[in-house]
Amino acid sequence: MQTLTDKVAVVTGGASGIGLGLAHAFAAEGCRVVIADIEEAALQKAATALPEGTLTVRTDVSKLADVEALAAAALERFGQVDILCNNAGISTFNTLDNQTLEDWRWVLDVDLWGVIYGIHTFLPIMKRQGTPAHIVSTSSAAGLFSGVPYIGPYAVAKVGVVSISETLRTELAMAGSPIGVSVLCPGMTNTSVMEAERNRPTEMGTESRTEDAENMRLYIRSGFTGPDGKEPDVVAGMVVDAIKNDRFWVISHADLRPTIAARFAEILDAIPES
Ligand code: NAI
Repeated sequence: MQTLTDKVAVVTGGASGIGLGLAHAFAAEGCRVVIADIEEAALQKAATALPEGTLTVRTDVSKLADVEALAAAALERFGQVDILCNNAGISTFNTLDNQTLEDWRWVLDVDLWGVIYGIHTFLPIMKRQGTPAHIVSTSSAAGLFSGVPYIGPYAVAKVGVVSISETLRTELAMAGSPIGVSVLCPGMTNTSVMEAERNRPTEMGTESRTEDAENMRLYIRSGFTGPDGKEPDVVAGMVVDAIKNDRFWVISHADLRPTIAARFAEILDAIPES
């Protein structure tokens, strides 16, 4: 998709952080934008800084009915959907023995099922359209190397997002489809992701904050890619570029290279010579 002018872009988690950066980047490219988010007030605030006509749809991506309603609203307003960014995401921060089953459910519901629902709902629409389209799902650096402490459920979901994106890419290529696929694996980006608990539904309980909880957050903030996060609009620009050039991998931070290389070197070393 070389030009994005007049395309319709749907961004989940679009009221904050990387999603909001994506919404602005798409608007700057001349797209018609739909932002979906669980936070109604943040959605309305975000819309005031986006072009008139931007559609806001309050959506909980962990609920299939909400994602279907999002697709219906986008089609009703704009008649088509050309770009989908499955971007909404949250995390808990704790050692595995302190991650409750509700922690697991909440994180997998939003970070993995949210992406599954997005693909399940929007892929048939894009296929019916038969025109070039693109699906971007936001994974994480944690989707590329495992073993990061304190974000066990998050890492499981994000590895899953990489996997489902790779499968989708293969299947669409085999079918000769005009639908492109990208997976976004950001390193530390300056957003509100560390305060994800703000969106936790009451039925999912609350995070069991151990004494070390704050240190765990700090570890994740600085341990991934160094203390300096990137700005969301920089990451969003990389996504726009990937869509235009039909690139699958969108890996935002150069300093992820040694960690990823070490992981794959360890795997390669474990393969017998013969
Ligand atoms: P953020 O907290 O600023 O934005 C996430 C947005 O998702 C918020 O607007 C939030 O209201 C929304 N959201 C939360 N639960 C939702 C639900 N059930 N349904 C719909 N919307 C929901 O955080 P950020 O960083 O912009 O997160 C975007 C994506 O980037 C996430 O998938 C996150 O895992 C991923 N990511 C972020 C990194 C970072 O350093 N900020 C690093 C790696 C990945």
